[in-house]
Amino acid sequence: MAHTHMLNIVIFGPPGSGKGTQSEKLLDKFQLKHISTGDLLRAERAAETELGKQANAFICKGELVPDDVVIGMVRNFMVNHSDSKGFIFDGFPRTVNQAIALDSMLDESKTTITCVLGLEVGENELVSRLLLRGLSSSRIDDQDENTIRTRFKEYQNKTLPLQDFYQIQGKYCSIQGTGDLSTIFHSLCACVDKARK
Ligand code: C5P
Ligand code: MG
Repeated sequence: MAHTHMLNIVIFGPPGSGKGTQSEKLLDKFQLKHISTGDLLRAERAAETELGKQANAFICKGELVPDDVVIGMVRNFMVNHSDSKGFIFDGFPRTVNQAIALDSMLDESKTTITCVLGLEVGENELVSRLLLRGLSSSRIDDQDENTIRTRFKEYQNKTLPLQDFYQIQGKYCSIQGTGDLSTIFHSLCACVDKARK
């Protein structure tokens, strides 16, 4: 089966940069399947699976769940949605190893990443967004400033190197993630359209 026409978007950025919010809008427009690894991990935890229990300790501390666990979960999702027109990867990949695994999983389906959309938001704004979200959601990792700082450190050390990884491939597109939601959305769409040509 030829899947080369698939549209595969990675939405990239630090915690609180709006990946989930903008993913919802992109899904709608482009008819894609959403792979939010954070949501999948939280669902596993709620279902009290072995994987969920394993992941919980890391999530509570704001640390990254080991690569093999997350990669296996994404692989399952992709296998179960192999008829999809494409995917939005939200919160994945978070490490270079995860990015290499993603490339090879897509390659197995004869497809590739179309573009990586990087949302840029300053750290002070991120902290206040996350604390605000923590007030109304049940996410304990949004309720404690120390946990939030740990998540930023993980992002700096393990996730940020992916910017170079994708920039070298000409796939990275940087977008200002502050201001009006629909303005941000239009900038994201412009990057997608450019990458599809
Ligand atoms: O993506 P999200 O911010 O919802 O992730 C919440 C938490 O889930 C992260 O702080 C981390 O503990 C865990 N996670 C992970 N690896 C991923 C995605 C999420 O370890 N690829
Ligand atoms: Mg999210």
